[in-house]
Order: sequence, then C-alpha cells, then structure tokens
Amino acid sequence: ARLVVLVSGSGTNLQALLDAIGDDPAAYGAQIVAVGADRDGIAGLERAERAGLPTFVRRVKDYASREEWDLALAEATAAYEPDLVVSAGFMKIVGKEFLARFGGRFVNTHPALLPSFPGAHGVRDALAYGAKVTGCTVHFVDDGVDTGPIIAQGVVEIRDGDDEAALHERIKEVERRLLVDVVGRLARNGFHIEGRKVVIQ
Ligand code: GRF
Repeated sequence: ARLVVLVSGSGTNLQALLDAIGDDPAAYGAQIVAVGADRDGIAGLERAERAGLPTFVRRVKDYASREEWDLALAEATAAYEPDLVVSAGFMKIVGKEFLARFGGRFVNTHPALLPSFPGAHGVRDALAYGAKVTGCTVHFVDDGVDTGPIIAQGVVEIRDGDDEAALHERIKEVERRLLVDVVGRLARNGFHIEGRKVVIQ
C-alpha cells in the first residue's frame, strides 16, 4: 500500500513507521511515498528528507480561505496516489475536499482514550482532570474532531508527579507501537468500516 503521512511536529510517529518499514516495504505491506505538513521547519520534515522522501507543505496562511487550503492539501496529497493517509501528529482539522477524497482511508492517532479528551490538548486535559489512566487512540478521521471509528487503543497510567511532557512521552511509547501495528494490518489485510466498527480482514 502507498502511504502519505501528514505531520506538524517532531515526527516520532513518522519515524516509527519509517523504522518499521525499513528496507523491506513488502514485508510491512506499505511504503511511505510522501510526507506532508502544515508548516515548515519541523523535525518531521527533516526526518522525511533524511529518508529521501518527497515532502510538501501547505500553510493555511498562504490561502485566502480555509476551504482553499483544504483543497490544496487534498490535491498535494492526491498527487502521490496514496492508498492510505496517516495523520501522525498533524494538527489541523481537514475539511470537505480532503474527506471527499480520503475519507474512509485517513487514519489519525490521538494521545488520549477517545471519546475522552479530544482536541489539541488531550494529554494536558487528562492530567488536569485527574484521570488515573489515559492512553492513545488510532481511529479513522470523519467530519468531526477526533470522532471517527476507533481502530485500536492503548492504555497508559498517569503517575503522581507527571507533567504534560513526561506523560506525553509515556503515551508516545505506546502510541508509536500501536500506530505501526495498525497501519501494517490495515495495509496487509485490508479492512472495511461498518458504522462505528472497523473490520480488518
Ligand atoms: C502525537 O502524540 C500525536 O498523537 C499528537 O501529537 C503527537 C505528535 O508526535 N497529535 P510526533 O510529531 O509524531 O512526535
């Protein structure tokens, strides 16, 4: 399967996919064909360049409207003819154009146990709430914010004295393994979505 991965930050989830694919994409069942971002100057793009991958950046502020940005991102992604698009820390909500093209084959990873703590601060919100466990969720993206059908989740304990950074790093250790496992299974086995249920053959 052809993957396009979208990033906005350090790209450690991207790196986990790159490391899992290694020099044998056939064994993993997928190859990353391009990496896209909503901003320049991030480690995620450096990781892609180091791996010799094509990259593209589409910044919201370069477009007259959010819809035009969404269309530009969709077209830039479509140029690589992905079978699956993976949001690995991509911090923008895509719109109708993107979902029209990639809905049903667009996967996101979120650092909380959805439906708890959706949105851009899931780690901070779980910590502030005083939750005892949190975790990560890999799900299909739908037209809501972190509301699409859940594929897999991993549980992470919250420890006394945790700050956001320490907890996020503990979550990411689980999240990276979960994302690599899920993307590989989706790519190798094929899947279909029945309402809120994801069936991987
Ligand atoms: C991940 O925890 C992702 O769930 C969240 O932001 C983080 C991105 O980390 N949205 P990285 O850029 O993959 O290191």
